[in-house]
Amino acid sequence: MNIVYLNGDFLEMDQAKVSVMDRGFLFGDGVYEVIPSYKQKLIGLDYHLERLAICLNMIKIDFQFKKDDFIPIYKKLLKQNQLDDCLFYLQITRGSGDKRSYLFPKNIKPTVFICCIPFSWPTIASLEKGYAAYTTEDIRWAYASIKSLNLLPSVLLSQEALEKNAVEAILIRNQQVIEGSVSNIFLVKDKRIITPNEQACMLSGITRMLIIQLANTLSYPLDERTVRVEELYHADEIWLTGSSKTILPIIELDGKRIGKGKAGPVWKQFVKHFFDDMEMLSHNL
Ligand SMILES: Cc1ncc(COP(=O)(O)O)c(C=O)c1O
Repeated sequence: MNIVYLNGDFLEMDQAKVSVMDRGFLFGDGVYEVIPSYKQKLIGLDYHLERLAICLNMIKIDFQFKKDDFIPIYKKLLKQNQLDDCLFYLQITRGSGDKRSYLFPKNIKPTVFICCIPFSWPTIASLEKGYAAYTTEDIRWAYASIKSLNLLPSVLLSQEALEKNAVEAILIRNQQVIEGSVSNIFLVKDKRIITPNEQACMLSGITRMLIIQLANTLSYPLDERTVRVEELYHADEIWLTGSSKTILPIIELDGKRIGKGKAGPVWKQFVKHFFDDMEMLSHNL
């Protein structure tokens, strides 16, 4: 059974249909969120819905989707799909017009689609083995801070990473490190954590924010600043973060060993706190 939500209805996945005139299909004209559920609790729900509202506003979709709208849908989908751990995929497009036109149609009703993707949370032991990554030019548009449905660059980069036996591509713009193709990036150097500062061409991740909060709580020095590509190769540790990734230690970059070539001590400290805090950070329904 795979029940999904579409515009007010709960349907079997293969019964959920949208028009070919839907602007999400035609233009990628919409935004999305991925909200993780851990033991039936949502992690960072308020932050995800806040980012969704900002992104809707940035692409001028005049529509609000609040916590009170989401909670009953979330509960019903979890129950009907009999899941505890999953990723909630929430997509809102501008809706369907009556013809293909770039201009926003008048009186259009957004399409709201939500499904839950079964998910197994990684264990710390499984993450600890470490991952390889590679650097490449950031081929995305300049507004990557919008969590838009236009994901072709991420699709191509994820496939390229797979073919290079890497977990992910690390994106570089004008010699500056931006983020991973589907994650944010942190470096550790001389007992300081460094992460690229927020900018229009970077998605401001919820996991990134949780880690910055955790560094504050632990009084661990953290700098948000410009990071040059050469700094990556001299880092003691590199981490990639995301809602479905937690914190991945990168031990090899472009075929070169990072730090001691194994998951570092700062990562170990943070990942432990991160998992411990998941209960506390989660939204208790
Ligand atoms: C480009 C990009 N950066 C960062 C992230 C991490 O964001 P979050 O921690 O909110 O999942 C993602 C997640 O999909 C992403 O696609």
